[in-house]
Amino acid sequence: MCGIVGIVSNQPVSNRLVEGLTRLEYRGYDSAGIAVVNGQGIVRRRSPGKIINLQHVLDDAPIEGTCGIAHTRWATHGKPNMENAHPHQAGNVAIVHNGIIENFKILREELAREGHVFATQTDSEVIAHLIQHHLDKGMDEESAFLACFERLEGAYAVAALVGKDNQTLYAARHGSPLVVGFGTGEMFVGSDAFALAPFTKRVLYLEEGDSAVVKIDDVCVRDKSGQVVTREILTASISAVMAEKGNYRHFMEKEIHEQPEALARTMAAYMDQETDLPSLGNAAPLLKNADRLVAIACGTAYLAASVGKYWFEGLAGVHVETDIASEFRYRTPALPQNGTALFISQSGETADTLAAMRYCNRANLGTIGVLNAPESSIARETNAVMRTLAGPEIGVASTKAFTAQLAVLAMSAIGTAQLRGHMSEDEARTHVKALEQLPELAQKALTVKDQCEAIAPILAGAKQTFFIGRGVYYPLALEGALKLKEVTYLPAEGYAAGELKHGPIALIEDGTPVVVIAPSDKLLEKTISSVEEVAARGAKIIAITDEAGAEQFKDRTEHIIVLPDMPGLCGPIISAIPLQLLAYYTAHKLGTNMDQPRNLAKSVTVE
Ligand code: AGP
Repeated sequence: MCGIVGIVSNQPVSNRLVEGLTRLEYRGYDSAGIAVVNGQGIVRRRSPGKIINLQHVLDDAPIEGTCGIAHTRWATHGKPNMENAHPHQAGNVAIVHNGIIENFKILREELAREGHVFATQTDSEVIAHLIQHHLDKGMDEESAFLACFERLEGAYAVAALVGKDNQTLYAARHGSPLVVGFGTGEMFVGSDAFALAPFTKRVLYLEEGDSAVVKIDDVCVRDKSGQVVTREILTASISAVMAEKGNYRHFMEKEIHEQPEALARTMAAYMDQETDLPSLGNAAPLLKNADRLVAIACGTAYLAASVGKYWFEGLAGVHVETDIASEFRYRTPALPQNGTALFISQSGETADTLAAMRYCNRANLGTIGVLNAPESSIARETNAVMRTLAGPEIGVASTKAFTAQLAVLAMSAIGTAQLRGHMSEDEARTHVKALEQLPELAQKALTVKDQCEAIAPILAGAKQTFFIGRGVYYPLALEGALKLKEVTYLPAEGYAAGELKHGPIALIEDGTPVVVIAPSDKLLEKTISSVEEVAARGAKIIAITDEAGAEQFKDRTEHIIVLPDMPGLCGPIISAIPLQLLAYYTAHKLGTNMDQPRNLAKSVTVE
């Protein structure tokens, strides 16, 4: 939800702190700031809004210094303004924080009674005052830093400067991710390896409850019991180059167009080249032997789980309960004795999904992470990881990660069906062969982009847009609505096509756009009935279908987006592409920032 960077070096750090922040801007962009230790103690520069504003502040008032911290914010407590921008400072302490301190009000009152004066409305500021409070009691810098966390409740990743001339970074994590990067003559701290990619690929991941004292050539990590521990130094798989826009205007456009190769990479990872059957790795026994599956996620990832439900139940005959992560553990779910829970997440850091996973771990379910970030918190705490090889997804709207998630779920459902004897090997091979066409089908689907751009003004000028679908295309309708909402800020609703007549059809007015996702399958005729109902009330129909389906729509609308024939399980995966393109071009028409939409962040690491 927020981004953190720290550097301790034998070189000036200000510019590289800002460079690291720009790689984290997708996590939040309400305000930004840096704090650097130099001859005058700790000096800060902060600005509201995007990081470019901070760069302008630094251009006008640069800071020299070789040890500093930086932060880009997605506001949780306190308005997104300059006053509340991190780093927060108290005396000779500056901190940057990602997470939520749940008991900050009590701590704030206690410290205020001792004379501490607070400058912000945030929860985070209390961390700086708490550390200063321990310094005032005579503790050394490290002890003062560590003592602070004995009082904090909630989730945090913190980097701090403690003491006015200390060339040391202090870091701690509890519920929010933090990595330490190893450079030459310098060391780094960051919210993720991607932020540090321009500086180093050698990182270690702090584990829950870890703290670290980072000096120019060394790091000392302590676990939650205070014991010094060694954490493995890994080579991060993220290339700084992969995260550039290239020839595209926006990351969202680039990532939509990367789907053919993302699907090719992902499919290859789950294909047993010898047998042409799915290869599910250490997830196989968890899927084969489970009495019931639970699939838990948020947002678009939850909609991928919803599509997966149709496949696992339809092909493998195994019951799948899908849940929105933020609801799951609060409803006291009746969990299966011998069950497996799948956690689907692009970032692997979504707090709601992480909390649900820990709930299932405690309930002794088998846990599988379907993840785009293999070194993420969810990856480290599940029994098995099934990677989506989509590559870094920077645009806040999830596109290539979504279709890669669907590809993994499709291969998993086929593999599960075959392993459970619900499907013959030959039938499984037929399904796999169909899915092997995904990269080519995705490439063909991208050719409808000009048509989607031509349709965009209809959506851009509408009071609201409906997306409808039946069966496995119902979650796609929900995804189409979510994509449009989050990048255009326009009202949009996804509905099961058969549900419109039970209320929502009252909203249909003359000219209301209704996007219907209906390739030619056994439900097409039923869906056409739903289309007739809304068309009769003035709706403007936009059909997403295939050649055979186009025949059914040609007398009902001029807006027919024709996709290639999509065999087997390919339909929902390929149908996502026109939905993404419609949202992208509508946002482009409206001039919204579809890579960093207002109020959103790429990784929601607070509950
Ligand atoms: C998708 O377009 C949204 N940005 C959002 O719903 C996202 O899917 C959700 O926050 C889950 O994120 P995750 O996949 O990283 O867990």
